[in-house]
Amino acid sequence: MKIFIVGLGLIGASYAEGLHHNGHTVYAYNRSEHPLIEGMKQGFIQKDSSIEKIGSVDLIILALYPKHNIEFVQTHKHLFKQGQIITDVSGTKVWMMKELEKILPQGISYTSHHPMAGKESSGFSSKDYNIFRNANFIIVEGSKSLKTDQDVLRVIAKDLKFGKITVVNAKTHDELIAFTSQLTHILAVTLVQSDRLKETKQATGDSYRDLTRIAKINEVMWSELFLENKEALVEKINDFMQELKYVKELILVEDKEQLMRYLKEAKEKRKSFDIL
Ligand SMILES: NC(=O)c1ccc[n+]([C@@H]2O[C@H](COP(=O)([O-])OP(=O)(O)OC[C@H]3O[C@@H](n4cnc5c(N)ncnc54)[C@H](OP(=O)(O)O)[C@@H]3O)[C@@H](O)[C@H]2O)c1
Repeated sequence: MKIFIVGLGLIGASYAEGLHHNGHTVYAYNRSEHPLIEGMKQGFIQKDSSIEKIGSVDLIILALYPKHNIEFVQTHKHLFKQGQIITDVSGTKVWMMKELEKILPQGISYTSHHPMAGKESSGFSSKDYNIFRNANFIIVEGSKSLKTDQDVLRVIAKDLKFGKITVVNAKTHDELIAFTSQLTHILAVTLVQSDRLKETKQATGDSYRDLTRIAKINEVMWSELFLENKEALVEKINDFMQELKYVKELILVEDKEQLMRYLKEAKEKRKSFDIL
């Protein structure tokens, strides 16, 4: 398949390299020149890549932050051709998909998706297509989706070695992601920020390291994603605060029986996620 990738950051460059290795012809665009030149030098981006090539491909993958995806489409949509499929990899969907659906030309189908894999580091130099191995792949349908788009996205998912594929709408996606991805990042950073002891660094163990790994966060990207999904995220923060308050009460009143029941229930629930 001929594919055009917009944005050679962590996800865009990892897609580009992984898809090239699976026999796809990959063209790309990036705001700054270096990643594009480096991708051509390393051989996974076509040497004749230029923005005009966007009209010659089967699939366009938008791999910028949501608001930059919208700006890009607004500026370059005159180059798109009838029959092309557009997708994006963004972490939030409701607002961005609605904006894109408003401006996409007739005759172009658009089905979004979200690769549930990443890294704390960002940019082209962090690229690594092995991060997608066995990761969840969420397809997000919208008002400009054609059923056949899914077949193309399933090829991409298979070639990049993703694991389970789920199909949802944008609202469900944003609710799910508010919990599984955004709340977990909020917890990691607030855990780090709640530290009041000067000796913490010398006293950390695996549990602190495991729980706070994602606090080494890309603050530009995540602050944008949190604000774009404000409503769903605040609801998940409220749910979490309620649970925290409940555990605090159990500890305060020394209700060991209920505390053990609560911990056991959480353990069983978490274990069930490991069963595929
Ligand atoms: N990182 C993750 O864990 C993860 C996981 C799943 C999905 N995603 C989604 O993937 C998308 C890209 O994330 P990423 O982690 O790959 O980001 P990244 O590594 O920080 O790359 C950002 C990309 O956006 C470009 N960019 C930044 N500001 C721009 C602007 N003002 N105008 C045009 N282009 C601009 C950068 O170009 P330059 O090279 O010129 O700076 C680069 O190509 C996001 O929508 C994110 O939600 C990320």
